[in-house]
Amino acid sequence: MSGAGAGAAPDGASPAEEAAAPGEQPVFRIAVLASGSGSNLQALIDEVHGRAAAGAPVIQIVLVISDVPGARALRRAADAGIPTATIPSADYPDRTQHDLAIVAALRQAAPDLVVLAGYMRVVTPPLLEAFPYRVINLHPALLPCFPGAHAIPDAVAYGVKVTGVTVHFVDTGVDTGPVIAQEAVIVQEGDTVDTLATRIHAVEHRLLPQVVGLIAAGNVHPPLPGTRVVQVD
Ligand code: GRF
Repeated sequence: MSGAGAGAAPDGASPAEEAAAPGEQPVFRIAVLASGSGSNLQALIDEVHGRAAAGAPVIQIVLVISDVPGARALRRAADAGIPTATIPSADYPDRTQHDLAIVAALRQAAPDLVVLAGYMRVVTPPLLEAFPYRVINLHPALLPCFPGAHAIPDAVAYGVKVTGVTVHFVDTGVDTGPVIAQEAVIVQEGDTVDTLATRIHAVEHRLLPQVVGLIAAGNVHPPLPGTRVVQVD
């Protein structure tokens, strides 16, 4: 995989800046994959869609894809005027064919970044190879603790006193890719899965838009070959 940044070309200009015609405001294009309620998609719509930090490109969510027909995330996107696609896994013989259909839809939308926001499937190499170091995921625990689909109940059951949120580059493992950002959440005495989840989701809704803004501004640099340390300016 390339050592060039998700948001940074080797000369420091973001791909969005390089693509913009002279005098045109550069646009940083995001595609979001979501399977469920889409509250993190909503945070992106509310906090970054159509916005730009000083000197950074305008961020546009150009496509929302769900593998779940009728997912609330699709309604949130439609309400915001964002194009949607439903690509159910049941329509394809295996995970790779399903991901190839997703790649075809993504290529049409030409995203600079693909955000997995509550996308409950493991992605396969064809998707990652199509967008090297341009696919990020949000996870409701401090990885490498509690990977998988039950991170919050797992943390409560284990009895940890601190858990949190991770945003990371996606690789072919389950929640194993290089960490971009993490924020801790203290487990309080008497916390249930629901009370802890409420505080974790509040952190997610802040951290994910923040990381997307940093990537759009070219401030996140994937690991050098042979390492897994992500540099964030
Ligand atoms: C979030 O907790 C995210 O970390 C996990 O799935 C949940 C999705 O929530 N991967 P939502 O669909 O964004 O509301």
